[in-house]
Amino acid sequence: MTEQAAQQFYSDIPTFSIAELDQDTHALFRKFRPETPFIRRDDGPLFILRAKDVVSLTTDERTRQIETELLQLRGVTSGPLFDFYDKCMLLSNGAAHKRRRGPMARTFAFKMVAEVRPKVRAMAEKLIDRHYEAGGMDLFEDYSAIIPAHTVAAILGMPEADIPKFARWIYIIARSLGTSWTEKDIPELEDACRQMTDYMYELVAERRQNPRGDFLSDYIAAIDENPEMTPLEAIMQIIIVVLGGSDTTRASMAIQTALLLEHREQWQAVCDDPSLIPGAVSEALRFEPSVASLPRLVLEDIEIGGHTLAPGSLLMLSTMSALRDPDVFGEPDRFDIRRTDHTRWHYVFGGGAHRCLGEALAKAELEEGLAALVSRVPQARLVGKLKVEGHGGIRSAENLRLEWTL
Ligand code: HEM
Repeated sequence: MTEQAAQQFYSDIPTFSIAELDQDTHALFRKFRPETPFIRRDDGPLFILRAKDVVSLTTDERTRQIETELLQLRGVTSGPLFDFYDKCMLLSNGAAHKRRRGPMARTFAFKMVAEVRPKVRAMAEKLIDRHYEAGGMDLFEDYSAIIPAHTVAAILGMPEADIPKFARWIYIIARSLGTSWTEKDIPELEDACRQMTDYMYELVAERRQNPRGDFLSDYIAAIDENPEMTPLEAIMQIIIVVLGGSDTTRASMAIQTALLLEHREQWQAVCDDPSLIPGAVSEALRFEPSVASLPRLVLEDIEIGGHTLAPGSLLMLSTMSALRDPDVFGEPDRFDIRRTDHTRWHYVFGGGAHRCLGEALAKAELEEGLAALVSRVPQARLVGKLKVEGHGGIRSAENLRLEWTL
């Protein structure tokens, strides 16, 4: 559908600019959710607001995951960044998606996550100890961002000395999955992607020669049993796992800490009773999700709530809106770590074929990251006010500090 045809087709749908959506996203979704199943952003995408529609559209065969379209719109049609988009499971569909996800899903096992849990806890405690005498640390840079990068490095069995450059590449490439980059960023994104790809090729070659019975050795065995998978494809699935777990988890770590400290009595409750930690993590993921929406393309007419979604439309299935839908959650705008009405499958991790592969790992990192803070610095206070940026895709929460008295 051309932009002009879309204007006409969706002329009765409330339409907002990015700035309007960013101003108070929750209030806007709250106002329009009862009135209309979707709203429109003036640059095209339709934001699906109601939980039942978000859930059903993630598995609706009349939609598909976006592939390289958005990258091509920005003029990137070849090269290392294009290869990554073109070959990774997150941005593929049908048989290609199945082939790419299968070996990783088999290897990314519960056992591996259970084994990494104590390592995450030890790492988190070490980070706090590093800053303890100084009486504070940057919640985002010194804590939340370090845990995900070091966790995947530990899973991949990387040498300690390689972690800083690896973490730098991760956060550069992860930016490409958001919307805040422009053409002038392309050389930096491509360079990071090229270096990461080369590094992973070497790591895989080394591990193939010296298997260690670890995650990467198991993954190599799984891809070797799968001759349809090309070497480039195999590498790109490692990179998407690394990236999928970076921005998402670091934002969630910062958000959950800030939310709890802004609801001091709930922070105190967690300090007094660590069995509240899993509930606190789930509630923070619901109240301010780090992933605000899932992109999908409409393939055929779809009727929802008395409106038609036309083929070619770009949807943003708004997890952010669904997670505050009063049809599912009682008093959805109240932050309550003791809430008992969480859904069995948390919407923040998506649904259907692309449901997050790292959910168990993300929860382990978030739970252990919180456990370390409440046990080591229960007296911590937040400097700065939580403002989660973004209404679509991955959100961020920066400029927050933790301080404590010794
Ligand atoms: C709080 C943290 C996290 C959140 C909120 C989150 C959320 C999501 C969501 C919503 C999707 C589906 C996207 C879509 O359908 O378009 C997804 C996919 C994915 N996630 Fe996560 N994620 C998190 C952490 C992780 C971690 C720690 C890893 C691994 C280390 C990971 C790896 C992946 C991968 C590989 C996919 C692609 C799956 C596929 O396309 O089949 N994620 N994640």
